[in-house]
Amino acid sequence: MEAIKWTNDLSVGLAHIDNQHKIFLEKANNLFEAGKNRKSKEVIAEMLDFLEAYANEHFRDEEAYMAQINYPGLEQQRSAHQGFVEELNKLKEEYEQSGGNVALIIDSYVMIMNWLTKHISNMDKKIGDFAKNRK
Ligand SMILES: [Fe+2]
Repeated sequence: MEAIKWTNDLSVGLAHIDNQHKIFLEKANNLFEAGKNRKSKEVIAEMLDFLEAYANEHFRDEEAYMAQINYPGLEQQRSAHQGFVEELNKLKEEYEQSGGNVALIIDSYVMIMNWLTKHISNMDKKIGDFAKNRK
């Protein structure tokens, strides 16, 4: 399985959001690399915690920016973000309950990356479009 890399067609046209998306993709890739390399439960759990914290931080920043520019799709974005955080939490719980089954992490990779690339393409790009046309 190949890692999904950030490319220009994932750009939303706003550098601060793009940069966070790049970091998020990188962190997700690191996590799944660690899974493939059968890293310890402690290492994986720490990476999962970091990924969750980073997702929350990014969503908070993105939502603050949307509020700042009076973006009309803020509520829709908020519930999409919430949904993702819940998925991530479920994964963390399952991982804990399984006693550290890395196969679970690897299997979730496609799901998480699909969500992310679809969310960026279908929703976040509209924030960039709105910001551009606002002036
Ligand atoms: Fe978003």
